[in-house]
Amino acid sequence: MTNAIERLEQAMEAGRRDLALARVSGPVHEITASTARVCGISAFLRLGDRVGFTAEGRTQIGEVVCIDAGDATVKPFEARIAVGIGARAHRIGAARLRPSPAWKGRMIDALGRPADGRGPLIEGDVERPLDADPPAAMTRARVDKSLPTGVRAMDLFTPLCAGQRIGIFAGSGVGKSTLLAMLAGAQGFDSVVVALVGERGREVREFLEGPIAAARDRAVIVVSTGDESPMMRRQAPKVALAVAEAFRDQGESVLLIIDSVTRYAHAARDVALAAGEPAVARGYPPSVFSDLPRLLERAGPGAEGSGTITGIFSVLVDGDDHNDPVADSIRGTLDGHIVLDRAIAEQGRYPAMDLLASISRLSGEVWTGDQRELVRKLKGMMARYEETRDLRLMGGYRAGSDPELDQAITLVPRIYEAMRQEPGQEPSRDAFLELAQSLRG
Ligand SMILES: Nc1ncnc2c1ncn2[C@@H]1O[C@H](COP(=O)(O)OP(=O)(O)OP(=O)(O)O)[C@@H](O)[C@H]1O
Ligand SMILES: [Mg+2]
Repeated sequence: MTNAIERLEQAMEAGRRDLALARVSGPVHEITASTARVCGISAFLRLGDRVGFTAEGRTQIGEVVCIDAGDATVKPFEARIAVGIGARAHRIGAARLRPSPAWKGRMIDALGRPADGRGPLIEGDVERPLDADPPAAMTRARVDKSLPTGVRAMDLFTPLCAGQRIGIFAGSGVGKSTLLAMLAGAQGFDSVVVALVGERGREVREFLEGPIAAARDRAVIVVSTGDESPMMRRQAPKVALAVAEAFRDQGESVLLIIDSVTRYAHAARDVALAAGEPAVARGYPPSVFSDLPRLLERAGPGAEGSGTITGIFSVLVDGDDHNDPVADSIRGTLDGHIVLDRAIAEQGRYPAMDLLASISRLSGEVWTGDQRELVRKLKGMMARYEETRDLRLMGGYRAGSDPELDQAITLVPRIYEAMRQEPGQEPSRDAFLELAQSLRG
């Protein structure tokens, strides 16, 4: 009897859902360079909903970016608007995706379509929203399990935990993507999800053939190259997060890489401006600064008992200005930042990590008491070495007058040398041991 009632209730619920999803459509009555305005269906739309246009015998998909009482502004995912006045626009509903473990080894685009020419994707059982909310703070597991990355400088000075979110901050061409590719090969993750946002087409190929090649069969790559529309670039990280969340909820330890979050912010800016928002900080509309933490917060530990998403995000600091509003907002959201320095890269010291400026807010969970003490001493020595660099170059220091500085002058170049690592090289196994060996040598 209860079963029958339950079945009846389910059938009614399904009926209601179908009714709600019944095709709602309206005509396009205004077209600009990047948007189309549709009238008559505002009441049925929500911000972020997908809308399909039928034009020239094919369907073009767009997203609702602004709604008022009479009209809805829709921005298509393709760079060019193919529709004309009077074309019908129909509601598709909220953006969703059905990720499946079978996607590992595949490359997809920002709409979740296969982009590697290897046939259709098998869909998973669970539908996931692209704009999911981050898990509630109090339900999240603690972040305290150390995870070696194989990149020596990071494992020593900014060690990572499973579920941590860290940013790589640098100007253009200082080595962000190379470092991310090295990190993508880290052992200890069940799956790797990478979003390449606004990259050059050539770099996508290089990335796939780089250090990630070894982890390719557990990696899902979401690509939206620089020539695609801002809508696609804005969506690629969301797709990556939806995939990462699906794997996390299956109990996996997921490594999520977004290269770069800045290009996501640029795309979000273009979309928000097209939707009519005013620009407030260096051309960025306010919604960009609320979208960023919302996106980044989705990475991190899941609820107690599920898996984790460890997030590594690259951030381009425009003109090497580390205080630009986007970089600032991202830095405040993350649990650590790695700063790459152009001057270090120019000396040919790669990864060009500024070891003094980079911090991991969770290093306390990873280091033992001795290790913490050692890192403190090493940093002290490096600081001494760097602040006296000019003085020594000008011949203003005589060896023997300060034993501590003398020690720094001998050891710091050895530390720097030990931190050097190139993409093709063997990953580090025990960074502290390897450093000790170089210092002795
Ligand atoms: N670990 C490394 N070992 C040797 N060379 C490196 C290393 N990291 C970076 N490089 C050099 O620096 C160049 C630029 O690196 P990369 O493309 O990673 O920079 P980027 O910060 O991602 O640049 P963009 O801002 O244009 O995306 C590489 O082509 C390579 O020559
Ligand atoms: Mg790059």
